[in-house]
Amino acid sequence: MSWEKEERERGMTRREWVQIGIGAAAVASIAGLGGLVAGQILPPPFKFNGEVRETIQYTKFPTPQWWNAKAGTTVKVSDFQEWQGATGVWRGLFQDNAYVPGTGFPCIIVRIKRESQFFTVPPPDLVPAALPSGFNLYFDDATLDSAHGGTRILVFFDRCVHLCCYPGWHVVDNPPPGRDYNNYGASPPTFVQFQQDPIYCVCHGSQYDPMVLVVNVNDKSGASYVGAQRVHGPAPRALPVIPVQAQGLNLVGGMANPAWYVYC
Ligand code: FES
Repeated sequence: MSWEKEERERGMTRREWVQIGIGAAAVASIAGLGGLVAGQILPPPFKFNGEVRETIQYTKFPTPQWWNAKAGTTVKVSDFQEWQGATGVWRGLFQDNAYVPGTGFPCIIVRIKRESQFFTVPPPDLVPAALPSGFNLYFDDATLDSAHGGTRILVFFDRCVHLCCYPGWHVVDNPPPGRDYNNYGASPPTFVQFQQDPIYCVCHGSQYDPMVLVVNVNDKSGASYVGAQRVHGPAPRALPVIPVQAQGLNLVGGMANPAWYVYC
C-alpha cells in the first residue's frame, strides 16, 4: 500500500497535511535550526519567540474596520455587537507577538442573533467528525449580553470554496451581493428574516448563510464537513465552520477534521 493510500485511509494525505500545516511546520523548522538537519550541522541557534496560537486572533483588514486596532490580540466573545463580524486567524504563527502572514487558518467571526426559529444545525449524529472535547460548532451563551437574548458566535474558514478568495462579513457592498436567491433554491434567513447580507465573496458573488449549518462533501478531500450553507453561486457548497469554545472570554478553535479545510 502506498504511503498516500495509507494516509488517505487515515483521513489525510501527506500533501494535505503539508498544505494546512504551514504554521506548525514553520515552528518546527525554525525550532530545528541549530540541530542536525539533512546531515548537516547548522549554525548556532538564535532566540526564537514564535508560537502557534490556538486562540483566534484578530487580523487587520485592508480597509478601515472596527477591529483593526485589535489586530494581533485575542478575539473575545464579549467584543461583538449583534450582527457584528471580524476577520481573524486560528493556529497562526506569531513571532515576537506579531502575526506571520500566510500562516494558520484565516477565519471570519460572526455574531448572529441568538434565536431558535431560523438557526439550523445538523443533529449531533450527522456531524461527520467528532469535535474535540468541550468544543461546539458555535459559541452560545444565554447570559452574555442577555439584553439581546444572549450571544451566539460562529467562526468560518475564510477561503471561498469557489476559487479560494477571502469572503467577508459586511465589509464590501460595492458591488452589492446579488439577491436572486431563488435562482439557487435558497432563502437565507440572515437576509430574508433579518435583513443582514450573508457572508459575501466579492470575487464572483458567492454567498453563505451563517445561520444555516449543513453537511456537505468537500470534493477535493472527499471529507464530509459542516459549513455555512451556500445560498448564492458560483460556489458549489458550504463554507466550512471552525468548531470553537470560550476559555474565559477568549475564543479558541478546535480541530474536528483537517480534511474539512483542504481545497485551496
Ligand atoms: S472565489 Fe469566491 S466567488 Fe469565486
